[in-house]
Amino acid sequence: MNSSHSLTIHPAGGFFTELTVPGDKSISHRAAIIAGLANGPCRVRNYLPSEDCLNTLRAMKSLGVTCDYIDTNQYGPTEIIIHGTSMSLSSPSTVIDCGNSGTGMRLLAGILAGQNFESTLTGDASLCSRPMGRIIKPLEGMGAHLKATGDKEGCAPLIFQGRALAPIRYVMPVASAQVKSAVLLAGLFAHGTTSVEQPAITRDHTERMLTDFGIQLGYEENGISIEGGQTPEACNLDIPGDISSAAFWLVAAAANKNSSLTLRGVGLNPTRTAVLKVLLRMGAQIDQSVTTEGNGEPAGDLVAHASGLQGTEISGSEIPNLIDEIPILAVAGALAQGTMHIRDAAELRVKESDRIRTVVDNLQAMGANVTEHDDGMTIKGGAKLRGANLDCFGDHRIAMAFSVAGLFADGETSIRNTECIATSYPGFEDDFSKVCGSSR
Ligand code: S3P
Repeated sequence: MNSSHSLTIHPAGGFFTELTVPGDKSISHRAAIIAGLANGPCRVRNYLPSEDCLNTLRAMKSLGVTCDYIDTNQYGPTEIIIHGTSMSLSSPSTVIDCGNSGTGMRLLAGILAGQNFESTLTGDASLCSRPMGRIIKPLEGMGAHLKATGDKEGCAPLIFQGRALAPIRYVMPVASAQVKSAVLLAGLFAHGTTSVEQPAITRDHTERMLTDFGIQLGYEENGISIEGGQTPEACNLDIPGDISSAAFWLVAAAANKNSSLTLRGVGLNPTRTAVLKVLLRMGAQIDQSVTTEGNGEPAGDLVAHASGLQGTEISGSEIPNLIDEIPILAVAGALAQGTMHIRDAAELRVKESDRIRTVVDNLQAMGANVTEHDDGMTIKGGAKLRGANLDCFGDHRIAMAFSVAGLFADGETSIRNTECIATSYPGFEDDFSKVCGSSR
């Protein structure tokens, strides 16, 4: 593997090493936002210093939150004291740039809608082409005044007038943790009880973190409710490692002939572990041990061993809980025997890239047998992958998934424009070298 903006990968053998993947991206965004609303200082450990999460931290700073950096690495702060504002944010002096992050933009929209000042959220070209109607609709239903001013309808930049909000009972048409979180955060600023009903279970980090901060939530069959006017009680957080980052190494080890790869301190929240279930179903050998339950977020170690993988079907209510891992699971499908069916995953088309298109294109370029569907793909495993010259379309997960695919291809694989990896996994390249350096 080489330099910053493109990666060159050569086939490698079995992997025998131990890694600690960086902090969870979803939890880091929420830590910056919820600690920034709390009634005092909160010490946050293992914050993810990725571009996306640094943008959310900058956004909170531009809203009046102050931070002391206790520890930093070469990418940014990893241990931070976030001084909460007791729900009193201040007017930002500039437009808030969320970069590439849909989570940052949608969650921040939830808190900006109910302020008594104007603000604007923008992002890069990818983010400004992703659908924001899904948060605009419920926020408008709460009385928010916001305009999507992007070139594409319903897209950022988003301009907020800032209004007092009324509660809503919102039934989400799409299973989205970001939409659920935006509505719950807006509900904190509304007068009365706001509730959100989800069509399928989505990651519940917002609910867990709000509870950690002493916020009372109500639970109904498929829904969560929140009473406005509560202030988060300052507390400290330890962020576990990101299972979505760990997934690349799990597949690298499991698809190999001879490997034993240990991943320490990985978040094992049950709304995020569907990727483990799928890999186990595919015949992977992965040992799990929960070592901590701190902050309402279970975490532990994973040890992945080489195993022959078999195709499987991934569809239905499983999809929202492994949506970010589908690119690497599709690579696993191409390396498996038998057929992998991925269905009900049309949401992939509105991620950082159209991940159905970009995965299919790259798998085909590597010689895999794959058919595209509106809502997924079918991969007939077993065809030997060949090295190829690939683009990652500015999408971090495509770049990392195909770096792993390159380890199993004949010849050299190169991937262009890989700087986007820094949005979620700074240090990926170093970890890749470590894994390959352990190759036997
Ligand atoms: C996220 C939720 C998911 C996921 C995204 C992070 C979150 O999106 O794809 O990377 O932190 O809430 P949905 O909102 O579509 O569930």
